[in-house]
Amino acid sequence: MDWEKYESTALDSFADAGTREELTTAHTAALGRKSELKTALREVRDRRTGMTLNAIRVRLEEAFTAREGELERADLDERLSDDAFDVTVPGDEIPVGQLHPTTQVRRLIEDTFLGLGYEIRYDREVETVEYNFDKLAFEPTHPSRSPRATFFLDDDTVLRTETSPSQIHSMEGKPPPIYMVSIGRCYRRDAIDATHYPIFHQFEGLAVDRGLTLADLKGTLLHVMRALFGEDRRVRFRTHFFPFTEPSMEPDVSCGVCGGEGCRTCRYSGWLEMGGSGMVDSRVFQNVGLDPEQWSGFAFGVGIERVTQLRHGMAEIRPLWSPDLRALRQF
Ligand code: DAH
Repeated sequence: MDWEKYESTALDSFADAGTREELTTAHTAALGRKSELKTALREVRDRRTGMTLNAIRVRLEEAFTAREGELERADLDERLSDDAFDVTVPGDEIPVGQLHPTTQVRRLIEDTFLGLGYEIRYDREVETVEYNFDKLAFEPTHPSRSPRATFFLDDDTVLRTETSPSQIHSMEGKPPPIYMVSIGRCYRRDAIDATHYPIFHQFEGLAVDRGLTLADLKGTLLHVMRALFGEDRRVRFRTHFFPFTEPSMEPDVSCGVCGGEGCRTCRYSGWLEMGGSGMVDSRVFQNVGLDPEQWSGFAFGVGIERVTQLRHGMAEIRPLWSPDLRALRQF
């Protein structure tokens, strides 16, 4: 037997094997239990032949193992490129949502008033003329009663123009003391511009108790404005007129952009207008059957989009009503 030839033939067969099955077949032929080499090894009697044959066996096993490794790697390479599966590619980011900026502010308002012990109300948006205007002591000739200013559904029904009807609902709903805030959508026939939109949100506060004064109103507004805009803010009142409060005041909060020095945001006044407020008018108390000699109260109403615009330095209200997430994601 020419063992040199046997070895080189076996080495060639390993090298020629293109797949792992072919390699297994070549291995069985050269090194299997029934191969000539293994048979000869089992039958060998002299030490020199034994050592020669065993050396061949060791070299062939090594060559086989090396080739096996090569084929395994080639196999893996092929599968990786076939599946085009690159384990080093970063995974897809799961988009995380966020609350709408108006909702963020609404929640902040809810938290602030809950902290003051106020009840939170969400009242109807389709309102009667009686609750939207009459019981709030709007004069019969008040311009808000015009269909040019207000959306009428029929002669007696409107889309509420403010959250103030909640004052009536809460005072009719239970006897004082009342500390409530009403939050929700309001509707007006306003032309759309940078600060107006025909749908908007307000929050409306009402406190009815014995002996409440303007100082309580101002203290409450100061607390709320600081919660919304920061602890360094100041609040001032300008006298005004609203049908359902007497006296009526418009609260201003000091401008956060310039700290009250005067800048473009506050139109160089140092102050930002925040809505309306006042002491509950005795006619309103009478309209809900409360005795104005016994009870006093204060109320205020603030636009939530305005708060949102100021908090974020937004020049435009329109993105708040846009479904374009690229705009909303900035806030
Ligand atoms: N409802 C008024 C408006 O929309 C704002 C307002 C003024 C609310 C005075 C009040 C208030 O509660 O007392 O313009």
